[in-house]
Amino acid sequence: MEKILKVQMEAVLENQGLARAVAAAYASELDPTVEELTEIKTAVSEAFSNAAIHGYPGDMSGSVTMEIATIRPSTIMIKISDQGVGIEDIAQAMEPLFTTDTGDERSGMGFTVMESFTDKIKVDSRPGEGTTVTLIKKLDTYYDF
Ligand SMILES: Nc1ncnc2c1ncn2[C@@H]1O[C@H](COP(=O)(O)OP(=O)(O)OP(=O)(O)O)[C@@H](O)[C@H]1O
Ligand SMILES: [Mg+2]
Repeated sequence: MEKILKVQMEAVLENQGLARAVAAAYASELDPTVEELTEIKTAVSEAFSNAAIHGYPGDMSGSVTMEIATIRPSTIMIKISDQGVGIEDIAQAMEPLFTTDTGDERSGMGFTVMESFTDKIKVDSRPGEGTTVTLIKKLDTYYDF
């Protein structure tokens, strides 16, 4: 793996834009299309907001780590982790429209968006320990190392 970037941010929604911007800056060096860049930013936004909102509910505070690597030429891997409450039933959480939000703010579409905008998504989570979402995105343009 080359070009590994690791950043740690406070798990607050105010940092969502920063997470997007960091991922976009990294991906930009691999010469993505405008569409691919938008897809990466959107997927990262969903993973980051999940970590900040669901990972650390209520008064809980903590951090979100984002690790980005180029795993193959023009293939990027983005890992977004929190050490929060974790997910009890991952398969259920990933179903379209499933949300544990009791208000009407969340639509339960975050994982569906991440799935459709990337090539592969893996979710590792343990209740009480936290969650890691791994996103893999292949870019059309060949990046010559
Ligand atoms: N990092 C996380 N830690 C704990 N629970 C999570 C985490 N990410 C997701 N979840 C759980 O999975 C559910 C589904 O997530 P998803 O992003 O698909 O929908 P949502 O966040 O509820 O709504 P939306 O993303 O549309 O605003 C969440 O409601 C939450 O219960
Ligand atoms: Mg979400």
